[in-house]
Amino acid sequence: MSRVVVTGRVPEAALEKLRAEHDVDAWTGPGSIGRDELLRRVAGADAIVSLLTERIDGELLDAAGPQLRVVANVAVGYDNIDVPACTERGVIATNTPGVLTEATADIAFGLILSATRRLGEGERLIRSGQEWKWGMFFLLGSSLQGKTLGVVGMGGIGQATARRAKAFGMEIVYQSRSELDPGVAAELGARRVDLDELLAVSDVVSLHCPYGPATHHLIGAGELVAMKESAYLINTARGPIIDEAALAAALGEGQIAGAGLDVFEKEPAVHPGLLELDNVVLVPHLGSATVETRTAMAMLAADNALAVLSGGPPPTPIS
Ligand code: GLV
Repeated sequence: MSRVVVTGRVPEAALEKLRAEHDVDAWTGPGSIGRDELLRRVAGADAIVSLLTERIDGELLDAAGPQLRVVANVAVGYDNIDVPACTERGVIATNTPGVLTEATADIAFGLILSATRRLGEGERLIRSGQEWKWGMFFLLGSSLQGKTLGVVGMGGIGQATARRAKAFGMEIVYQSRSELDPGVAAELGARRVDLDELLAVSDVVSLHCPYGPATHHLIGAGELVAMKESAYLINTARGPIIDEAALAAALGEGQIAGAGLDVFEKEPAVHPGLLELDNVVLVPHLGSATVETRTAMAMLAADNALAVLSGGPPPTPIS
């Protein structure tokens, strides 16, 4: 029996699966586990099942000890894990790609609709108790049909978002490290462009790239100026891909029409400038937040941990 530390609350089915074979120590709250408590608990762990809110770095790996074999993140993004530090210590790191693709694309598209059709503004108006009535020019938004979606990062979630956009009658351009499979590109009618062209031609720019040094502040003041004044920026990837202060300034000055954000630069803090603006929709990192998706993510993380503990390859290693 190995010792498995789970750093936060996960669906019971995943805990049961782990408990059937191993000794499981799961943090059950309240709130997130504190750093000191986490460093104490991981001591002697053979496997860590981690949430994206926990930083897995050299200090934590050393606190666990040399018997540690696997860190199984319950997230597709793994910017909370120092992967080279894992590799140096012979620890396998895994994530949960695939199972949250559709749920995250749903939230991306929800943000696209909310921002372009001013749903947040409308909701706030009604709840404020202010008088309102139907009017020809009341809360007019912007239609999607015939407009262009620019997808930055055309992995699974980018493609799933593009598929939704196509169903809404949008044209697709994308910027990505690699060319799309020709069949998928033809199905979506998607054209690969560089970031400059994408920013210039898109009516909605949606971010789906991983976060790392190469994508830190990928969208800053210069990129916001390069977008159309009528365009919208959507982020369901990671907050620091956008320079949030620059975005707040651009939205305030009407340099772009609006934005929809599920993730934030200094999460859970949100730039105070954004909170004052009506042309940005803000939701609290809900991309994968459905019962079905979170269960599938936790089960996949459990499968990854179990596979490594039994000496086999994990289903979804971070390569
Ligand atoms: C959520 O943000 C994830 O990376 O899974």
